[in-house]
Amino acid sequence: MAIVIGLMNRKGGAGKSTLTKLLASAIAHSKKKCLVIDLDPAEDILKWWTRAESNGHYDEKIMVRATTVAEDLYEIVAKNDDTVDFIIIDTKGEGAEWADDLAGVVDRIVVPCTNANPDRDRTRETIAWHDDLKKRVVSADQIPPLQVVLTRVPPVMVRHKKDLPKPKDITTRDFDRHYEIVAEFNPLSTMVPERPQYREMDEQGLLGGIMDRCRNGQWSDKGQALHYESALAHAIDLMNNIIEGTKMEPSHGA
Ligand SMILES: Nc1ncnc2c1ncn2[C@@H]1O[C@H](COP(=O)(O)OP(=O)(O)OP(=O)(O)O)[C@@H](O)[C@H]1O
Ligand SMILES: [Mg+2]
Repeated sequence: MAIVIGLMNRKGGAGKSTLTKLLASAIAHSKKKCLVIDLDPAEDILKWWTRAESNGHYDEKIMVRATTVAEDLYEIVAKNDDTVDFIIIDTKGEGAEWADDLAGVVDRIVVPCTNANPDRDRTRETIAWHDDLKKRVVSADQIPPLQVVLTRVPPVMVRHKKDLPKPKDITTRDFDRHYEIVAEFNPLSTMVPERPQYREMDEQGLLGGIMDRCRNGQWSDKGQALHYESALAHAIDLMNNIIEGTKMEPSHGA
């Protein structure tokens, strides 16, 4: 049985597709198979993988399917459930007519949230939808858990503990809102930092492949390999965190 993870946040640019690429990188590096379903009509993930493959960055552990019909999810998941280890579903920013169908097929709903008011509002709406869904069904315990992941976090805030002084290059407003969001949403303990290495996935596919190309001198300098290794290790931590569902420590403000 595959573990099925659905990314969801109605706010565009919250980092759903980046999280999808990160998780696919972590899964491929762990020698597991992953099907990524692109439910976004913009087909960002399908285009990303097609581009990566045509640039020679193929990985047979990753498959990508695109559909715009949410009801298709049941069939696609059922068909692949025994042949892959993970199924990741990337969704579109707008609309929520597909949300119930998504909840019907996934084991975890992951909601990326950046430190910005519109993201925070959309995350609240997604949590309200999830609470409402639990009321609309006979057995609420069958509804997959919803986990908020803080994304695009300045690295200095990933390391920060609540009682330490504010880092000098973070504004008071951002600093306060970071901890308000933590208190409000009780996010997973692993945050996604803002990293140039994650943006490079847009061009070059999976993190492990980019790391290998740095190591053997095919791309960039060897010193960069370490940054990709650390980015990959972080992605693996995040994957484990999503499976285990561990929330933030009180020292991080939860
Ligand atoms: N942690 C990060 N570090 C660096 N860049 C990031 C990070 N997260 C997202 N980005 C960049 O921000 C842009 C938007 O992110 P992404 O495409 O993941 O958002 P999305 O939620 O999928 O948006 P949409 O709903 O429009 O599909 C991308 O260009 C991506 O490279
Ligand atoms: Mg996207």
